[in-house]
Amino acid sequence: MPSFKNANPPMDRATLRANLAAIPRVRIAHLPTPLEELHRLSEKLGGPRILIKRDDATGLAMGGNKARHYEFEIAHLVENGYDAYVNMMDYHSNNARMTAAASNKFGIKYVCVLRYAAGREVQGNLLIDKILGADLHLLDEEQSEQAKAEEYARDLGRELEAEGYKPYVRVDHEFPTIVGTLAYLQGGLELLGQLEELGIHQVRIIGVGGRSTGGLALTAKNLGLDWDIIGVMVNYDMPIESYLYDVIPGAVRVAKLAVGFEPGDMTILDQYIGEGYGIPTSEVLDAIHLMAKTEAILIDPNYTGTVMAALVDQIKQGNFTSDDTVVILHTGGLPALFTFADELWQHEYAGV
Ligand SMILES: Cc1ncc(COP(=O)(O)O)c(C=O)c1O
Repeated sequence: MPSFKNANPPMDRATLRANLAAIPRVRIAHLPTPLEELHRLSEKLGGPRILIKRDDATGLAMGGNKARHYEFEIAHLVENGYDAYVNMMDYHSNNARMTAAASNKFGIKYVCVLRYAAGREVQGNLLIDKILGADLHLLDEEQSEQAKAEEYARDLGRELEAEGYKPYVRVDHEFPTIVGTLAYLQGGLELLGQLEELGIHQVRIIGVGGRSTGGLALTAKNLGLDWDIIGVMVNYDMPIESYLYDVIPGAVRVAKLAVGFEPGDMTILDQYIGEGYGIPTSEVLDAIHLMAKTEAILIDPNYTGTVMAALVDQIKQGNFTSDDTVVILHTGGLPALFTFADELWQHEYAGV
C-alpha cells in the first residue's frame, strides 16, 4: 500500500505552518471539524477501524469542504479590492451555494451563472442560492456550452464594471482552482494533530478524488507521513488530469512546498461512477441508508455517497482489513439529498 512515511521528510511542520500563515486568510469555517470514530459502522462491515473527518460540519449555509477553501479565496478577493464575484457553475453546484454564502458574509455582490438550470425544480442547492439572495442567471441547454457560458459570465463582469464594481470573474483566474488544495494543506495539519491525539500514525484516507484529497496527499508527502490517500471519482466529465494534476502545481508554488504532486501519490478508484454524475447507483443509495442507520450521519448522493459505496465494496473485496485504520473525508454536499427525494424514498435498502 502506498505511504509517504519518511524519516527525513522534505519539509517540517513548522515550515509548512509558516508558509500557510503567510497566505492571506479570513475565518469563515467552524474549525477544527470533529474527527469521529464509527464503531457501529466498523462492526457492521466487519472490517477496518473507521473514523470520519466531519467537513460537512464546517458551517456556512449547510457546510462542506468549500468553507475551508473560501478562507483563502475571500481573503484573496478582499486583498485585491474586488467587491463583486461572478461565478459560473452547474445548476446543482455546492460551490455556487457556498460562494454565495461566503460573499454575503463579506458584503461582496454575488452573481452566479448556472448551467443547465433553466426549468429545473427549485430544490437543493438551487433553492439555497435563491434564499441567499444570489443574482442567478439560469442558462438553458444551448447557452450552457462551456465557451458560451464563460462568455456570458464575462459579459456580466463587464456590466458590473460599467456600474462601478471591481468584479472577480472566476473563470478568468487561477486562484479558485488552487484554493481547494491550499485549504487541505491546512486541513491536513488539523487532521494530523487529531490523529496524533488518538495515537494513530498510520491511516488510509478515502474521499472524493479531487483537490481536497490532493491537498491531503501533498501534506503527507511533504511531511513524510504514513498516510495512504484514496480518491474516488464521481464524474466522467471532469478527468482527474485536468481537474487536479494540471492545477495542483499552482498550490505547490503558492504554499512553497518542498515537493510537488505526482499522479501515483493518490490511488484513484474510478469504477464507482455508474451511469454518470447525478445518477446515483443502487450501491450509493444503500450506502446513504447504511451510514444513516448505523451512525446517524447523512451523506449525499453525488459525492460522499459514492465514496462510501466504494469503501463498502473495497472492504468486501478484502482491500481493507481489520488491521487498517480508515478516515473517510466527509466533504458535505447535503442539500442534494432533497434533490434526490424520489430515488431515496423509493429505494429498498438492501441492508448491507
Ligand atoms: C460535496 C463535495 N465533495 C467533494 C467535492 C470535490 O471537491 P474538491 O475537488 O475541492 O476536493 C465537491 C466539489 O464540488 C463537492 O461538492
